[in-house]
Amino acid sequence: MSNSKVFANQLINWYEHHKRDLPWRNTTDPYKIWLSEIVLQQTRVAQGLPYYEAFVNQYPTVFDLAEASETEVLRLWQGLGYYSRARNLHACAQTVVKDYNGKFPENFEGLLKLKGIGRYTAAAIASFAFEQPNAVVDGNVYRVLSRIFGMENDISSTNGPKIFESKANELLDPARPSSFNQAIMEFGAIQCSPKSPSCVLCPFSSTCFAYNHNCIDVLPVKTKKVKVSKRYFTYVVFRAGDLFCLKERGKKDVWQGLYDFHLLEAKEIQDIENVISLLNELGLRNCELGTLSKIYEHVLTHQRIFANFVEVKLPHDQMEQLLKITDQLSLYSIEQIRELPKPVLISKYLEDHIF
Ligand code: ADE
Repeated sequence: MSNSKVFANQLINWYEHHKRDLPWRNTTDPYKIWLSEIVLQQTRVAQGLPYYEAFVNQYPTVFDLAEASETEVLRLWQGLGYYSRARNLHACAQTVVKDYNGKFPENFEGLLKLKGIGRYTAAAIASFAFEQPNAVVDGNVYRVLSRIFGMENDISSTNGPKIFESKANELLDPARPSSFNQAIMEFGAIQCSPKSPSCVLCPFSSTCFAYNHNCIDVLPVKTKKVKVSKRYFTYVVFRAGDLFCLKERGKKDVWQGLYDFHLLEAKEIQDIENVISLLNELGLRNCELGTLSKIYEHVLTHQRIFANFVEVKLPHDQMEQLLKITDQLSLYSIEQIRELPKPVLISKYLEDHIF
């Protein structure tokens, strides 16, 4: 038996004994598999599971998802982050309905053409739904392969991912692509975990490069770290009676399509004087200015956002004036705000002060 075959057999054998019972593993419906993979990108199974269930309930088929509004899809996605995934998910469902008669392409190359489907997701759908021999490569796979086989290729370099993909395809059992792919990811998630993996219980410990060379902590090699920038937001919460001003966030920034309040952004955290200047600039009179809230911190992949909030009560005539000069803001009741898709940061403020 070839070395690859021995590895695949051992891996799948481990999987059969240790796998978690997850709903997307009991189906070959490409729609459900696609949905689960998009939900699970950059997300832990425990966090993603309730979202997967909610989407399958709300939209049992690709036709149901395609018919939904983008706002409704974003609302259901709320809290999962990386909202472009939700917008791409919705756009992709519409393409599959319009251009493919509601049927997903049945191979890797065909799947890759769809919006939001990259090499990882295409391989996952092709193998899980159609038993196509395409190896998945995600963070789990980098870790497992780099450690067991001592692969020191930099995963943040241009060529690194390609080298891992070739290795994974070489190891893949073409008779069982679905089991092999599920197994290698599950092995990375449960057994060969990032911190303190349980090497004493590992079926590969006798040959594992990292275990035998004491370098578990340095594999996989990743030299380029993401640069995180700090941003400072002051939200001005304009209100008239029980109605609040919100706006939909535009393109080219975080949270596109979600709703937030009037925003002042600066190089440092703003104080109340900056808010007073804004009210003067807008020519607003008879405002009732609240106090600045505590600072809410929100961490994204590339940004760390610090935000405080201040409520400004306006008489109705002044509110009309404000809506005339700022074309983006609209008025919403508390019930309407509950239904809008919002960044978690905004939901937290609302829970603390308004709801
Ligand atoms: N993470 C991403 N895809 C997964 C899958 N199919 N099963 C478990 N965890 C995953």
